[in-house]
Amino acid sequence: MMLEQLNDTYQRSLDQLQNARTSETLETWYRQTLGRKGDVTQLTRQVGYLGPEDRPAFGKRVNEVKKELEAAYQQQLVKVRTAELEAKMAADGLDVTLPGRRYSRGRLHPATQTLREIYRIWGDMGFQIYRSRDVETDEFNFELLNIPEHHPARDLWDTFHTTEPGIILRTHTSPGQIHAMREYCPEPIRVILPGMCYRYEQITARSEIQFNQVEGLAVGKSISMADLKGTLADFAKRMFGEERKIRFRASYFPFTEPSAEMDVECMLCNGDGCQVCQYTGWLEILGCGMVHPTVLRNGGYDPAVYSGFAFGLGPERIAMLKYGIEDIRLFWGNDLRFLEQF
Ligand code: PHE
Repeated sequence: MMLEQLNDTYQRSLDQLQNARTSETLETWYRQTLGRKGDVTQLTRQVGYLGPEDRPAFGKRVNEVKKELEAAYQQQLVKVRTAELEAKMAADGLDVTLPGRRYSRGRLHPATQTLREIYRIWGDMGFQIYRSRDVETDEFNFELLNIPEHHPARDLWDTFHTTEPGIILRTHTSPGQIHAMREYCPEPIRVILPGMCYRYEQITARSEIQFNQVEGLAVGKSISMADLKGTLADFAKRMFGEERKIRFRASYFPFTEPSAEMDVECMLCNGDGCQVCQYTGWLEILGCGMVHPTVLRNGGYDPAVYSGFAFGLGPERIAMLKYGIEDIRLFWGNDLRFLEQF
């Protein structure tokens, strides 16, 4: 009796399935037939009411029915879906003249672009890139650069300290001078040392707590202040163009003697004076000087025989000048509206 009922249900479900023409009817059919409360599922549960002699035959048939309906359902599903897709394509068509979807491309950060330009120029001038560490010791960042513990110049370079005593984030790329000298001594040196520097500063439009620097170092016999000026003037020509004027101003750094700063004629106002150059017509782009004898000695070179010059320039500063960027904080703000302009 129940076997009969099962076969009836099977036949009826199969007919209904064959007549289902849309995904929605198919879904409903599935729920009503093979779903948790579906007809076939309900019947399966009836097994318990059968006598032991009828159970095997019924159980076997129930499994067959389930399998067959499941397979028939999958077949019908493919048929219906294909038909639906074809109908949709026939109705909507495909407009091949619509513009494609744009994909966004990555690009180099403006600081990286400027750094690479700087590397290229110094590379052309015979300088190698020397990589030096971001995490430094107090000794390298200060002591060996002729800035002893209570020296007032330290105030200019307040920095981040680690929990390890004497281990700090470098405040400038100058400690790399010592590393390079100790590695190359007694050979002559011509290197640039690029990288991030960190200072514990109030963040303003002109200063950030992190920024790049490119240090330069030349050590050899009979290197003079004239070489320093000539080399930096040549760099400025290559970087800013033949016509751009530069000037040197006397300055002070504990690790160079004499020391100077180099200004470039403001490119936004061509020297007339504007807000960016604070109405001076000049913009400072680097600090420089002849390597202090103490620093040469700390690097292993005898200052009676060797001399050298060093400089430290700010790539973000240069990028600001080149592109007329007014706020240094834009560099690390990660705002795509800014970054995508380069
Ligand atoms: N280290 C100096 C600074 O951070 C720049 C500098 C480098 C000056 C090398 C002279 C020589 O301001």
